[in-house]
Amino acid sequence: MVKSDVLVLGGGPGGYLAAERAGQAGKSVTLIEKRALGGTCLNEGCIPSKALLNSAKLYEHALHSDVFGVTAENVKIDHAKVVARKDKVVKALVSGVGAKMSAHNVNVVMAEGVIQGKTADGFVVKAGGEEYAGDKLILACGSVPVVPPIPGLREGIESGFVMTNREILSLKTLPNKLVVIGGGVIGLEMASYFAMIGVPVTVIEMLDKIAGPTEREISQILLKNYKKKGIDFKLSCKVTGVGDNCVLYEEKGVEKKAEADVVLCSIGRRAFTQDIGIENLGVVMERGAVVTDDYMQTNVEGVYAVGDINGKLMLAHTAYREAEVAVNHILGKKDKMRYHAIPSVIYTNPEVASVGETEESAKAKGLEVKSVKVSMKFSGRYLAEVEKGDGICKLIVDTKKNCLVGVHMIGSYTSEMIYGAAMMVESEATVEYFKRLVFPHPTVCEIIREALFEI
Ligand code: NAI
Repeated sequence: MVKSDVLVLGGGPGGYLAAERAGQAGKSVTLIEKRALGGTCLNEGCIPSKALLNSAKLYEHALHSDVFGVTAENVKIDHAKVVARKDKVVKALVSGVGAKMSAHNVNVVMAEGVIQGKTADGFVVKAGGEEYAGDKLILACGSVPVVPPIPGLREGIESGFVMTNREILSLKTLPNKLVVIGGGVIGLEMASYFAMIGVPVTVIEMLDKIAGPTEREISQILLKNYKKKGIDFKLSCKVTGVGDNCVLYEEKGVEKKAEADVVLCSIGRRAFTQDIGIENLGVVMERGAVVTDDYMQTNVEGVYAVGDINGKLMLAHTAYREAEVAVNHILGKKDKMRYHAIPSVIYTNPEVASVGETEESAKAKGLEVKSVKVSMKFSGRYLAEVEKGDGICKLIVDTKKNCLVGVHMIGSYTSEMIYGAAMMVESEATVEYFKRLVFPHPTVCEIIREALFEI
């Protein structure tokens, strides 16, 4: 039996950061991971998709750069090389996480862990034939793709015709025709990559809009941009089956067929809690996810759940913060999880970045709000660098408190600007205070300042 102060199950962003922070604070930590350090984010999610999307962006720039006075002949993209570079980036980051674990004396166990329950030694997890006990247990097992009972879908996944984010990110040869089921974040980022490099792509989405909870006008602008790239959207269409080289869907009550040689299934993710012995803990679950309080603690004292496993907001940066809150609670430090100012980004071209309430969601909560909108073209740098850009910046203002409750943007650099907006929402400081801040000129982020003066 190996005993530690803190036992962490799962080595993705939630798990490895919890291990790092607990190790930094002098706790003895064991981290158990069955596949690879870095989890979905580093190995088959956030990072690899960004490597691919950047190559596509460079390719697109090279193809359409004549308007900027630059011409390039014979521009090509080598998908195999793009994937090889992505693998190199992933490898470097995964080994970086390993180095951090060593630096903070975290005992990393690469094996599948199964929770045995609570004993006199603490919470016990069995992994690789050994038993590990911890006074505290942090569950960080992540999530897996949702595979609903659509006829033919499971068989399609087994045969390799239907892929999830894991397989598609390592696809070595390009498909002749890609069908994406689900116009959410994963579907859009992948559709964007393959369409930009010349693959015909169809996206089938059940709702009447893409990008799920994204502010409606921004979602419409994104759709327009995607259509320009040649992506074929089937909105308000429900997938009903997967057949031989095709996906069946229903459009206004009529069954239709989309031909494909590769299908991506991206219709959401669910907390991963299967086969980990979670039933041996007695933690309360809701809709398949582990229920946590403001300190990321479950109903069982000493057991915490961070990241996708609690099903709250499946984003790596949410997991980071939740990990810190859980560790701070273990350390007896005052801290609390807040979800109202967590930014979200879709890394397509153009990028979409949002934080906080939309006008619709704010009104549904009974807030008195108004929204202001400015075109990104008011930013000198945006105009200088983006040809025919149609980006916008929208601020949602609580008129009673005179503070920002939401910021929604589409356009270049917005992924890098949104943290500033998130700080504005999180701080709940007044609009007048932010108007006195000086932004660097010329930058695209000045657009936020511009919008503040429209309130
Ligand atoms: P998602 O929840 O973002 O989107 C799934 C979409 O599939 C929804 O629009 C839904 O209406 C649609 N859908 C469901 N059933 C359908 C059916 N039978 N036929 C047609 N459409 C159907 O899920 P996604 O894209 O799989 O992403 C999973 C998670 O990963 C999300 O929680 C997301 O936040 C996270 N993620 C975040 C990224 C980022 O922050 N940039 C990047 C990639 C993933």
